[in-house]
Amino acid sequence: MKRRSQTLRVRVDLPGRPYDVRVGSSILSEMPGWLKSRKNKKAFIISDQSLTAARQKLKSSLKKSGWEITEIPVQAGESFKDWQKIYPVYGELLRAKAGRDATIFALGGGSIGDAAGFIASTYLRGVDWVGLPTTLLAQVDSSVGGKTAVNHALGKNLIGTFHQPKLVVCETDFLKTLSSREMISGWGEMIKYGLVFDSRFFKSLRDSFTDNAWLFPAHLRKSIQTSLKWKAHVVAQDEFDRKGLREVLNFGHTFGHALEAETGYLEFQHGEAVLWGMRFALALSQVRGHLSAHLRSDLDSVLAQAPIPRLPSQFTGRDFFQHMSQDKKVRNGRLHFVLLKSLGKPISDSKVTEADLHAAFALLKAARG
Ligand SMILES: NC(=O)c1ccc[n+]([C@@H]2O[C@H](COP(=O)([O-])OP(=O)(O)OC[C@H]3O[C@@H](n4cnc5c(N)ncnc54)[C@H](O)[C@@H]3O)[C@@H](O)[C@H]2O)c1
Ligand SMILES: [Zn+2]
Repeated sequence: MKRRSQTLRVRVDLPGRPYDVRVGSSILSEMPGWLKSRKNKKAFIISDQSLTAARQKLKSSLKKSGWEITEIPVQAGESFKDWQKIYPVYGELLRAKAGRDATIFALGGGSIGDAAGFIASTYLRGVDWVGLPTTLLAQVDSSVGGKTAVNHALGKNLIGTFHQPKLVVCETDFLKTLSSREMISGWGEMIKYGLVFDSRFFKSLRDSFTDNAWLFPAHLRKSIQTSLKWKAHVVAQDEFDRKGLREVLNFGHTFGHALEAETGYLEFQHGEAVLWGMRFALALSQVRGHLSAHLRSDLDSVLAQAPIPRLPSQFTGRDFFQHMSQDKKVRNGRLHFVLLKSLGKPISDSKVTEADLHAAFALLKAARG
């Protein structure tokens, strides 16, 4: 007899609109049970068109429980997060007579989640949605928190809303078809939670990265759950990102975003750029006197094991500083960063100078890997 998988649960405790995230392998068949309080079973599945098998599994699980299904497959990826690309989806919903009682199911990576969440929040002034993230990055990060977005020619994620899902289902079987780079990108975000919140989690991740374990390491389900607990914890305290508490989730992202942008979003997956960004943030933490040289080198050696593209030689500390100046992130010659004072203990530092950036860059270059 096939052993039934154990489903892990994370509660996102928002006043008036709490929801659950379920994590496990072969758990789609259980999903209708988690949605049984819904009065109308009208499902509109906005999905990454390339994920045929995942879509079939979702449909079959919903059909068995009497859901009426309308499929809206789309071309996933960053290019879908575009005003004009999502416009026809509203047409499909209208033609299918989706009413206020419709439930949108977003099946795909973060690009689908961000755009389908945005559609759900604006269609008929807002309908309910369920997230079914299919990349590790989306499972540990973008699927929780309710930030929805499309891009503008002048920048990423500039048009969006806060619209929490009703349920998120992280089916780990979906991850089996991901490329190793996509997996490593997700690991980048997981390591972030360990570094800034949870020394035990960081150590357990460190111990599971042996040989080829980057692709399918031990304790994957548990690691996803722990990551989500931290994300949910921060989101519950600062749902609308107004208190500055969510900024800690951006550890490593200032440098990571600059690296992504300066390389035209072509050379690095997001989590790969964040891994470099976290190595930079560790170096800067040492330069600013928050973190000992010994601990920095210890933590850095774990991150340096990740098989990611090397830093392009043309990307220098000066480029990074110029990028930040253009982004208007430099005020009176000083910059704001989330840094680390020890494992699991972040610190906000608004007194970083250009000279500090250069010193940190030199440290990073001198480190192996
Ligand atoms: N809302 C938030 O809080 C938040 C947080 C972090 C990132 N994001 C957003 O998430 C997006 C990135 O997400 P992503 O990395 O998941 O990218 P993505 O959705 O573009 O997916 C990456 C690629 O993986 C493919 N793919 C997806 N699932 C697959 C599977 N199971 N097997 C094989 N291939 C699969 C997709 O077709 C695509 O080519 C960005 O747009 C970013 O802005 C949002
Ligand atoms: Zn990120």
